[in-house]
Amino acid sequence: MSRSNELQALFERLLPEAIAASQKAWCPHSDFPVGAALLTAEGEVIQGCNVENVSYGLTNCAERTALFTAICQGEKPKSFQAMVVYAPKVALISPCGACRQVMVELLAKDCPVFCVGHDASATRDWTVEQLLPGAFDAF
Ligand code: THU
Repeated sequence: MSRSNELQALFERLLPEAIAASQKAWCPHSDFPVGAALLTAEGEVIQGCNVENVSYGLTNCAERTALFTAICQGEKPKSFQAMVVYAPKVALISPCGACRQVMVELLAKDCPVFCVGHDASATRDWTVEQLLPGAFDAF
């Protein structure tokens, strides 16, 4: 399988899971659902959705929900194959700065992070390194 076929296969496996995760979002304050799906080294899919709070700063994004859930399930940092992030209310979702910093800690630098909105043609497959170049990394 060529690298691009491999990427496409990861994307197709994870997109329905990210869509399903977005349907579980708790987002009464923004009405902006987001879903994430993370593929473990063993091929298990871990979902995450955004979980908001009336004290707005306590909100957790979909990406961090998926990553923190994975760690709590015993998955090892930087062992993941790919992540898909899906947000139906924008043409293309772009992860926030906080999530990018958490990705740097928990995903490998070259891990693909597919970002998808309602415009399928705008879909991007950024790597973690592209999302946060020059990041403050583990010391
Ligand atoms: N949000 C995510 O879950 N992921 C992103 O990549 C961007 C933003 C959430 C946070 C908040 O619940 C809502 O989307 C609006 O910002």
